[in-house]
Amino acid sequence: MMRRDLLEREYRKPTAANVTLKRLLNYFRPYRRTLSYVVILIIITTLIQLLTPYLIGQAIDCFVAPTAEESSCRLVAQATKPNVTNLTLVSVFLIAINIASAVGNGYLFYLMAYAGQQVLTTLRNQVFDQIHRLSLRFYDQNPAGDIMSRLTNDADQIATAVNFALARVGSQLLVLFGSVAVMFVIHPPLALLSTTVVPLMLITTMLFARWARYAFRQTRQEMGEVNADLQESISGVREAQAFGREVENIERFKERNAANRDANIRAVAITSALQPTLNLLSVIGQAAIIGVGSLWAIRGTAILGYPVTIGVLVAFLVYLQRLYEPVRVVGQLWAQIQAALAGAERMFNLLDIQPDLTDAPNAKELPPIKGEIIFENVHFAYVPDEPVLRGIDLKIEPGQTVAIVGPTGAGKTSIINLIARYYDVTEGRVLIDGYDVREVTQSSLRRQIGVVLQDNFLWSDTIENNIRYGNLEATHEQIIEAAKLARAHEFIERSPDGYQTELGERGVGLSLGQRQLIAIARAALSNPRVLILDEATSNVDTRTERLIQAALDTLMKDRTSVVIAHRLSTIRNADCVFVLKEGQIVERGTHEELLALKGHYYTLYQSQFRREAEASEQPAL
Ligand code: UTP
Ligand code: MG
Repeated sequence: MMRRDLLEREYRKPTAANVTLKRLLNYFRPYRRTLSYVVILIIITTLIQLLTPYLIGQAIDCFVAPTAEESSCRLVAQATKPNVTNLTLVSVFLIAINIASAVGNGYLFYLMAYAGQQVLTTLRNQVFDQIHRLSLRFYDQNPAGDIMSRLTNDADQIATAVNFALARVGSQLLVLFGSVAVMFVIHPPLALLSTTVVPLMLITTMLFARWARYAFRQTRQEMGEVNADLQESISGVREAQAFGREVENIERFKERNAANRDANIRAVAITSALQPTLNLLSVIGQAAIIGVGSLWAIRGTAILGYPVTIGVLVAFLVYLQRLYEPVRVVGQLWAQIQAALAGAERMFNLLDIQPDLTDAPNAKELPPIKGEIIFENVHFAYVPDEPVLRGIDLKIEPGQTVAIVGPTGAGKTSIINLIARYYDVTEGRVLIDGYDVREVTQSSLRRQIGVVLQDNFLWSDTIENNIRYGNLEATHEQIIEAAKLARAHEFIERSPDGYQTELGERGVGLSLGQRQLIAIARAALSNPRVLILDEATSNVDTRTERLIQAALDTLMKDRTSVVIAHRLSTIRNADCVFVLKEGQIVERGTHEELLALKGHYYTLYQSQFRREAEASEQPAL
């Protein structure tokens, strides 16, 4: 529960909409030129849109139904009777500029999509980089699926908005204010009458936007949870089937999915309720114009000196339609923008996490080391106030092999995590050749430390490339040499495509033992001064077991080796054994010395290693 809280705080904090928007817009800076074309195109197409109703009205007042005195016709000096030629001219002109407007619009959205996709690529790359900078601690606390959701679903939401919504909202707002302006120029009294509902519409839209944003934030979050669940289920499908957890998993997924559905329905309900509300307001506005305007037109009275002609009335009705349209469209697209902002917020939150394991500003390159390791009063905790290591003091000489033993949960893995600085100590120091591991660059440190774990990660790539991760510059010959040293050469040669055999995700297609041999080859290739080993407890067949043992013996020669030992042979060969219990070293010495003590090690030996010792003394059957 505690971890969840931590996650909520750092990683899900809501941000003000304008802050997020501003930050998103900042990403468009490099595309200012493209955007300036977009703005020019928006202005041109908007002007055409604004001109069209005015020209329609003028065509009527000049060439269809001209009124002799007090004409509102401004196209020609004196309009007295209908003129079909001029009417046709105006029509053709209208068609022409509207075609131009349509083409301009298309190009505008192309440009916008171009800039938008560039921005999105940048953003995705940044998030991907960040994923590699974040510490193991972060991944201990956050489900991978939720992180993936930020890169995929949330990014898609942003894409929809920047490709489409931003430019449309921009142009529609321009149409809105432009229409109002033109209407006031043509006929102020009518304009006043028809725009009374606009403020109401704007207020309504803003209110809805606020609710929608809240609802969309929830949908993004639920989406993340659905993905987290999905990811976990796919990775754990083998275990789920083995332990008959399918039903429970499916049930849990159904629940999350339902929550996601409900959040989406809420968001859609809010955004779609906006439409009819705005419609109603617009109908009221139009009815007022038709009713009052027609009355004025029939009476032929000029209002405040402005004559109400049929042309003016028609122009107004067209403007009105165009006036309410933007509010409606903006209201609708607003939903998309809200969803995008909710998505952007989640991406930014991820970007804002300060990696807790960074190189110090004055971090030095760790020079080639001899391999001395010192722990000085090291305290460590994964979660504050839950100490895992409590005052560890130890010294390992270059070239020594030491074994760490202790009951499960004693803190053995934690110790080796600190040597390669996968986590930072909470107190004390870890020194390699006299350098505090926090004062050297992580890359120079890890380059000189080889790690072979119980469950080694293999990429879905060829066997050769998986070994090459140990040293990216290695030649094919060096890789074969390392594989031979790791006793892996033989089985690799027997694989369908030899070294070029493609592995499935996480090394599927290889046995556990084979995977470990590959990991040993990888470590051998990197030729580290310090070797860290978490011995496998898994049951591999005796032949593979012997292969692994032989490979490790070769690998450990002439290096400092720290081994979490599960095999008696390793412990016997170690220069020193540290016995760990509840985060403290309770005993240290060689196997014989420790046995003679008849303390913790003796008990451990009795329960864990004695049977192995007896078995090895009996002749193999
Ligand atoms: P370790 O992982 O160091 O124990 O965890 P270990 O000695 O290697 O145990 P085995 O033999 O592999 O099983 C030490 C303590 O740290 C906590 C665990 O609860 C354990 O008690 N821990 C470990 C965390 O809190 N978070 C982690 O991510 C890992
Ligand atoms: Mg462990």
